[in-house]
Amino acid sequence: MLLNIEDYRRRARSVLPRFVYDYIEGSADDGHCMRRNAGDLAAIELTPRVLRDTTQVDTSVEVFGRKWALPFGIAPTGLNGLVRPEGDRLLASAAAAAGIPFSLSTASNMRLEDVHAAAPVGMQWMQLYIMHREMASQIVERAQKDDYQALVLTVDVPVSGNRELDLRNGFRMPFRPTPRLAWDLVSHPRWSLRMAPRGAPDFANLTPSGSGAGSASMQAALLARAMDRSLVWESLAWLRGLWKGPLLLKGVLHGDDARMALDHGIDGLIVSNHGGRQNDASPSAISALPRVVRAVDGRIPVFMDGGIRRGGDVAKALALGATAVFVGRPTLYGLAVGGQQGAAAVLKILADELVRSMTLLGATTVRDLPGSLDGR
Ligand code: FNR
Repeated sequence: MLLNIEDYRRRARSVLPRFVYDYIEGSADDGHCMRRNAGDLAAIELTPRVLRDTTQVDTSVEVFGRKWALPFGIAPTGLNGLVRPEGDRLLASAAAAAGIPFSLSTASNMRLEDVHAAAPVGMQWMQLYIMHREMASQIVERAQKDDYQALVLTVDVPVSGNRELDLRNGFRMPFRPTPRLAWDLVSHPRWSLRMAPRGAPDFANLTPSGSGAGSASMQAALLARAMDRSLVWESLAWLRGLWKGPLLLKGVLHGDDARMALDHGIDGLIVSNHGGRQNDASPSAISALPRVVRAVDGRIPVFMDGGIRRGGDVAKALALGATAVFVGRPTLYGLAVGGQQGAAAVLKILADELVRSMTLLGATTVRDLPGSLDGR
């Protein structure tokens, strides 16, 4: 029975080839940071308030002038097409139906224009990796033309985290089968048959027009996360000049960096350690959240991702000052298990759990949640 996100994770593990599941689930080094994300969320207590009228519970939030039905969105994840063909379109459609935003990764397998066309009423955010500035400007211009609502610059990948599972599995782009990978594919025939007519997915947004996959070297650079390491705070002025909408930084954990972001005209922050996939020594996202919230002091919205697996986790992050949160792996599990419907089912589980948590806490709107931090 698929009752919760953990059930979806287990089912995803059985339906996906090992190298795909390991790519999704994998963390950096020894997985300490990923476990801290979950452990620190589990340790937080919220104290219920009683005898409040909770016949109506409103989970909506307003973000950059848009109403989200729920205080969470889908985080950018690369290579969603490896989970299901056109995974980005399926996730964007599930998010649109739920009234929440979908973030498209630079490392996506679908052109950003096609994702937007598939869910035109949805809210799409564009995540940016900068490997080459010229290429990055073209992606930003295309996203702007296509009505993407926010630009998310990921700043915690100056170099790729050490993902040993991917190395052991021989997972690389362009895809080159090894005997081990071939066995993996043969033993997951449903996945292989679904993928076969389309061939191995590639990064679709790497050419100026988005009309093709870009050079093999660019593909390899993106998979290896070979970023432009000369990017510094001063470089943000260049991006600011290109992008007219809200500009967010994803991967900020330090209070001083949050203050720097304010000084550089950033419109929002995503407190994140990349789901534990980058620096294994990083603090959990939930433990870093309060210091970032304190540093920005209400001037810009602060979001958080990493380890959210229950609606109650969403409530905890909001109680600690997040405007909203994002989920990465949970909707990928849903996508693996049941395509768009699977992703929608995962979003519904989180939504139902959140409503129950809020009702139990006596919180009728998300603004009531900080009141559950009794004794802090
Ligand atoms: C990611 N993440 C990520 N982040 C980003 O900015 N650009 C990207 O392309 C990717 N790619 C990616 C792939 C996969 C398979 C995962 C699991 C994650 C990080 C992602 O946006 C988010 O920060 C984490 O996934 C949040 O943690 P949880 O919800 O997975 O615990």
